[in-house]
This record gives sequence, C-alpha cells and structure tokens, in this order.
Amino acid sequence: MPVKQEQNIDAELRERLRSARGVFVLTGAGVSAESGVPTFRGGGNTAVWKGLPFDVISSAGMVARDLPAVWEWFDYRRGVLRHCQPNPAHAALARWQDRFERFTLATQNIDGLHAAAGSRGVLELHGNVWRARCVACGGREDIREMNGGRPPACRACGEWMRPDVVLFGEMLPVDVWEEAAGRACACDVCLVVGTSAIVYPAAGLPVAARRAGAYLVEVNPEPTPLSEICDATIRRRAGEALPRLAIAAVLMGFNRNLLVQMQQATPATLGLAGTLAVLLCYGGHLRVVGESSAARLRMGAVGSLFGLASTPQPGTCAGSILWA
Ligand code: APR
Repeated sequence: MPVKQEQNIDAELRERLRSARGVFVLTGAGVSAESGVPTFRGGGNTAVWKGLPFDVISSAGMVARDLPAVWEWFDYRRGVLRHCQPNPAHAALARWQDRFERFTLATQNIDGLHAAAGSRGVLELHGNVWRARCVACGGREDIREMNGGRPPACRACGEWMRPDVVLFGEMLPVDVWEEAAGRACACDVCLVVGTSAIVYPAAGLPVAARRAGAYLVEVNPEPTPLSEICDATIRRRAGEALPRLAIAAVLMGFNRNLLVQMQQATPATLGLAGTLAVLLCYGGHLRVVGESSAARLRMGAVGSLFGLASTPQPGTCAGSILWA
C-alpha cells in the first residue's frame, strides 16, 4: 500500500486520532530543532566536538578513557540548552497527555524540554543531560544542585559521577525500555516525530507498534528508513505539524482526565464551586451544539453526575460529547 505523503492532515488520520484510546509518541532531536537544539544527522547543523564525531565523544569507551572530556562535552551541550525553551511541538504533546485514555511519550532526547513544556512521566530512553549518575552506587543527582567539580564526586559513596545519559555501546535503562516497548505494542496510533530512525533499539519501537496493528504516522520534513512502513507521513517541521494535528483532530481543550473525574464526582465531592464549574462547563457546550443527540447524551451525562438520569456508557458518553 503506497505511503500517503501529505502536507495536510487527511481524514483518516484525523479519525484515527479522534477514536484512539492509546497513543504512543516517539520523539527525536528534530522535535527540539526549532528550540535551537542542534540535531545529530539531518535537518539542523551536525554536532562534532573538538574534531571528535559525537558518537565517539558520547561513547562508553570515552567514559572509561577520559571522563573529564565527556563532562566537558556535556557541559558544552548544557551550555547550548540553557538558552533553549520548549517550542509549539513540545507544548502540543504536553496538552495531549490528558486527551487520551493511554498516552505515552517516549523520547530519545536528553534535553528535558518535554518535561519543561509540562509533559509528565516522559520515558527518557537515552537519559537526561541535567542528571548525573554515580559510576559505583548508581545514585542520581540533579546537576543544577551540585557543586561545579569535574568530574563531580558522589555524595553517597564518594566515587566519580558521570552524565546520566545513555552513551553509544551502552544499554538503555531496562525499566524505561520495557515500559516503552509494552506501551508501543498496545497503542492504536503511533506517532514518530523528528527522528532519523536509525539508532536502535529506539528506532525499533515504531516498527513493533506497526506490527502490533497501530496506525503509524511520521512527522519529519525528510524521509527516513521508517517512512516506507508508515500509514501516513507529514513532511513538515514538528512545531508546525503538531499544533495543526491537534486542531485537525479536535484535540484542543478536551481533558479526558477531567471528564473521568467529573463522571466520578458527585455534588458532595465537588462542593458548591465544583458543581457550578460542572454546570458552567456542560452548560457552555449545550449552547454550542443545540438539541442534537449529543446534546441529549450530554444532558444525560450532566444528569448522571447528579444522579438524575441513568449513566450513559463509558467512552460512548465521552465520544459523543466532543464531536457532535
Ligand atoms: N521537525 C521535525 N523533524 C525535524 C526537524 C523539525 N523541525 N528538524 C529536523 N528534523 C528531523 C531530521 O530530518 C532528522 O530526520 O529530525 C531528525 C533528526 O535526526 P538525528 O539528528 O539523527 O536525531 P535522532 O534521530 O534523535 O538521533 C537518535 O542518536 O546520536 C544519538 O543518542 C543520540 O538520541 C540520539 C539518537
């Protein structure tokens, strides 16, 4: 089946996102390119340090040979990152986390910009440049709270600390990897944003998701080895594509968790302020959509909150509330 190369977002992709319960997103350096973070291979300026290719300076062998040099390289990267802020792509993904029943954001990036944009529980497959890890006891510390010695010593056991980043030739953190792999294989839609998809095992996640039946979408201005197995590709920069995708699939402002809380709430737990908020929230919607079947369902949903009418089916209620 030919891969749909799109500039725009087609009806099937919109529908897949609207009806998705489980969404898995894998991001790479490209999602941070518009924040000014250099990528490694394509699209942005390639990173080489003091004549050493990044995959040499960022390797396990280099930690063994010259830990101070590794610190110098990551201090340089932190220096670049210090001035970088999350961009609209990070912000869009942060908003999506409350939109789906199961939402997973896994990243190869070590820049911490997803969390800075408000994303919770980000699976950091390659670690985080703002953390240090003890080479002996494995203790972790936030580098921003440590003194400037290089390499720094572990406050727990006194041994050297190294950047808590997965370097070439090293294993990914097993717990993070297993969670990512499990969730990739259980999603309805898998979105791959801003990665050249050549570094494994992370690049294997979307392949596994596709094999498990997920609808696979790539967002990247350039084709990658993954493009040929995608169901759709969006050849745009992430900072443009993701906010558009959110609007196109009506993902803005809908907070699934809030809806679940509201469905579980009663006037007793909500209190006066909360009850008014519910009424205002649902009242507003009523105004927009009028007497359609969704309005009736919505009335039902409001009613069920106050034990006035039978509770509509979970998911059905949610589904029809938003897309009358
Ligand atoms: N929006 C979306 N994609 C972009 C953008 C953008 N604004 N700008 C560039 N890209 C794409 C490029 O076309 C390229 O395919 O992002 C990709 C960046 O690829 P790499 O630099 O190879 O980064 P990544 O795939 O994240 O690298 C994987 O390799 O070096 C290791 O550990 C490092 O995590 C990294 C891993």
